[in-house]
Amino acid sequence: MSAGTSTSTKSIEYAAYELTNYDLTAIAPATKKTEPLGPKDILVRIKACSLNYRDLLVATGRYRKIQLPRVPLSDGAGEVVEVGSAVTSFKPGMRVSPNFMTGWHGGLISPEVVQTDLGAGVDGVLRQYAVFDECSLVKIPDYLSFEEAATLPCAALTAWNGLIENGNLKAGEVVLCMGSGGVSIFAMQLALMSGAEVIATSSSDEKLKRLKDLGASHVINYKTTPDWEKEVVRLTRGRGVDHVVEVGGAGTLEKSAISVKLGGHISLIGVLAEPNPKSNHAVHLLMKAVKLQGVFVGSVEMYQRMNRALEVHKLKPVIDKVFEAQDIVEALRYMQSGKHFGKVVVKI
Ligand SMILES: NC(=O)c1ccc[n+]([C@@H]2O[C@H](COP(=O)([O-])OP(=O)(O)OC[C@H]3O[C@@H](n4cnc5c(N)ncnc54)[C@H](OP(=O)(O)O)[C@@H]3O)[C@@H](O)[C@H]2O)c1
Repeated sequence: MSAGTSTSTKSIEYAAYELTNYDLTAIAPATKKTEPLGPKDILVRIKACSLNYRDLLVATGRYRKIQLPRVPLSDGAGEVVEVGSAVTSFKPGMRVSPNFMTGWHGGLISPEVVQTDLGAGVDGVLRQYAVFDECSLVKIPDYLSFEEAATLPCAALTAWNGLIENGNLKAGEVVLCMGSGGVSIFAMQLALMSGAEVIATSSSDEKLKRLKDLGASHVINYKTTPDWEKEVVRLTRGRGVDHVVEVGGAGTLEKSAISVKLGGHISLIGVLAEPNPKSNHAVHLLMKAVKLQGVFVGSVEMYQRMNRALEVHKLKPVIDKVFEAQDIVEALRYMQSGKHFGKVVVKI
């Protein structure tokens, strides 16, 4: 993306990309203009974005119907350029990131805040400049680069919400993380950071080796061991894990319910696996008195709490590959291929 063509404090013209149709290839360059800043508004120069599986769903019309054209991508990090007259928490030069749902500041999720998700309900971050309300931004940890910080808003915060805010994870507990994508690797890192033990799965032996190198105690190939839940039960000496970070959805929920201990906790996060019509998950969930919690990313307050923990532990996001903005379609296709390990990032 070339530099902005104007630097007026009233309105800035900038380069962006827009999804114009429900098709991965229908992402085209566009020139847009910022609105003049309101009192609580903050103008941010976006420096990096990251991709989530959800961006593939949005771009192919499998998320929810949205208004097109729409600037894609929810996750970004950048630098404050200018602040409105009533802004108190941010100054020009500060490094920031917008929350996935810009309207979810704290408390419970609501129908209104769900509509404020970047890259779907409102324009996303694949652009040079964006204006955010002060309440929707967080400061990014000093030790992280813009590329690293851009991986946090969706994948890391979802894992944090599932395991820490909701799951009340404790040191010594056992966490099952499924696959080696963005959410799952953050879940593993947050679990290890909290003193928990991790059992990780993947479809690739090479990725399993990398998961072990990152600290997983046990790894299982879910392709070559289709009954992987039995292996989880064996590894936990019949007890089951304390938490499952469930990214497969209806296709894996029965296996997760078998893997979890009596009274254990499942964070229901993703829908990656083909649904299994013969699944008997309801019976397992009920008879094991499982705490099943749907997770939908997190609030600004959760994001702030997570960043404090990251700062203390200096957790490093795992970035697989960094693309240039003009290669956004290639970046999405790379993610679609499933070759990635951790996060795919786009530089602006
Ligand atoms: N609820 C929320 O707020 C929320 C937030 C973020 C993401 N999500 C959802 O969570 C899921 C993961 O998102 P992501 O962005 O982390 O995706 P991602 O980075 O693309 O990760 C996908 C990885 O999951 C693994 N996988 C695929 N099919 C699997 C299966 N049947 N069983 C176990 N693992 C499987 C694969 O790992 P291997 O290559 O190692 O096999 C794949 O590379 C998606 O469904 C996404 O929509 C939900």
